[in-house]
Amino acid sequence: MTTRPDPGPGFREVIRLYTGPVSRVEPTERGFSADVTAVVSGGAGRFFVKAMRKRSDGWHEQLLREKVINPFVRTLAPELLWTAEDSEWVALGFESVEGRRTDFRLGSGDLSTVVELVNRIGELPLPEVARDWRETRWDWWADRGAPELFVGDTLLHADINPSNLLIGPDRCWVVDWAWPTRGAAFIDPAMMVLQFIGARHPPAVAESWAKGCPAWTEADPEAIDAFVVAYARLNRDRALRRPEEPWLEAMAVAAESWAAHRGLTIHYY
Ligand SMILES: Nc1ncnc2c1ncn2[C@@H]1O[C@H](COP(=O)(O)OP(=O)(O)O)[C@@H](O)[C@H]1O
Ligand SMILES: [Mg+2]
Repeated sequence: MTTRPDPGPGFREVIRLYTGPVSRVEPTERGFSADVTAVVSGGAGRFFVKAMRKRSDGWHEQLLREKVINPFVRTLAPELLWTAEDSEWVALGFESVEGRRTDFRLGSGDLSTVVELVNRIGELPLPEVARDWRETRWDWWADRGAPELFVGDTLLHADINPSNLLIGPDRCWVVDWAWPTRGAAFIDPAMMVLQFIGARHPPAVAESWAKGCPAWTEADPEAIDAFVVAYARLNRDRALRRPEEPWLEAMAVAAESWAAHRGLTIHYY
């Protein structure tokens, strides 16, 4: 838990219809996108609430994707119970689940669970709503012609990291379906590999975990190479833009060491 400024009376007012009078707002671990991620206790129970202030740039509309995908990922994700909206806020109310973040570090006992969750994501059918959500985040960074290798019909979570995979007493959860896409099946396992390298696994060890993912073993190694090159460029650009964030530098170094392990040379433009 981190301390964050209380979102204020306007936020409590917009969710009140669903939560009842709010008695407690406990911010969760700091997220990256929403203005509020918190477990909210009210007269009607406890809810995990993800909310954004409405902005003229439409950035808050990303919450809509998380709303729309929820019915199709319910075998892994907590249930979306309500949506609340007024002129200032849009808020999603999910069932609140008990789970701790996974530990991606070398030697952690969670790694086989991570692989299993990534495989279960890969087995989800692609819903019709996701047909148009083509994954393009790596395209701009890829070599000419390479983006077509990232195309596929798999529903991707596309944000595999320790705080989005939760381990509870009886079951596990995949949360934060903020930006699911349709793309090549190897992309989620590849994101897992990069996170493992970022958590200090030597690249060969990180890739050996991915051998437990059919989507990885069945992929064309050239497609993976192209993805690693694009990822290294993307991460280097992010690190250069925000030098005050040491974790971005760590992810850039991780991607570069992965590329070196695969014998790839990255040309930066
Ligand atoms: N349904 C839930 N119940 C309880 N805690 C949750 C739930 N969903 C997410 N969390 C916790 O809140 C954190 C932030 O939520 P997340 O959806 O990942 O938002 P962000 O986009 O800010 O990363 C998660 O890492 C997890 O610890
Ligand atoms: Mg998250």
